Amino acid sequence: MSDILNHLDQGVMTLTFNRVDKKNSITSAMYAALADALEQAEQDANVRVVVIQGHETIFSAGNDIADFLNNPPASEDAPVFMLLRNASTFPKPLVAAVAGPAVGIGTTLLMHCDLVYAGDNAAFSMPFVNLGLCPEAASSLLVPQMMGYHRAAEALLMGEPFMAEAALEVGLVNRVVPPTEVNNYAQAQARKLAAKPLSSLIETKRLMKVGQAQQVKAQMAEEGKSFGRMLREPAAKEAFSAFMEKRKPDFSKI
Ligand code: COA
Repeated sequence: MSDILNHLDQGVMTLTFNRVDKKNSITSAMYAALADALEQAEQDANVRVVVIQGHETIFSAGNDIADFLNNPPASEDAPVFMLLRNASTFPKPLVAAVAGPAVGIGTTLLMHCDLVYAGDNAAFSMPFVNLGLCPEAASSLLVPQMMGYHRAAEALLMGEPFMAEAALEVGLVNRVVPPTEVNNYAQAQARKLAAKPLSSLIETKRLMKVGQAQQVKAQMAEEGKSFGRMLREPAAKEAFSAFMEKRKPDFSKI
């Protein structure tokens, strides 16, 4: 069974994180599968909407930390950056269904989704600082824009989780439903979108995004440079080793 399931039905392509035993943490191969699926979805006239979903207990624990240690992204063409580029420029509607933890890219990816539905157990977090890293996915631009500077600073500097109701309040989430219903709810919304004229959906999305498309691209490139460098530095190495060894990181000597 693949770690990313890809299913097309009635114009809706559904991409499902399917690595629940590892909390849907995302490996390079999974980023590549997601990036390819979005590319295919963009080209294929039979795909009108894409849904990204996880399990009712876990959306995604973010990047696979063992992969970060053993196989850090080496260039702009690394699968993680390809996925971020493809998601941020994806022209058709992108819908997310989130239940349980959404860590790191599990939250920042949502900045590039058009509609986000959450289970009431959803817990969003961007713990980049706690891992010796910095934000990615243009989140250093988009999170302050979305929630205001001080709430963004709390989310990005403290890195603590915030729950579905808080995400609803700051505009990250469209609606909160029971976790067992979130995937079906997102699917129903996606079907409604798929029945609408695709050219109008694409044009409306383009017009909402065109004003800052270049800024998003530039921010992502700037973040990518820092992120790639910081992945190889002592703070991140200590944070990743601590996670793998199931202990608290010690940054006192770094
Ligand atoms: N990378 C690699 N493996 C991960 C992982 C990750 N990001 N997140 C979880 N796992 C693995 C654990 O190592 C564990 O594996 P094991 O059973 O072989 O020991 C398994 O998934 C279950 O994780 P566990 O931490 O026991 O589950 P939990 O329900 O107590 O906590 C999370 C869930 C998501 C809150 C917690 O796993 C977590 O904080 N993960 C790290 C998140 C993170 O920092 N991501 C990077 C963001 S850039």
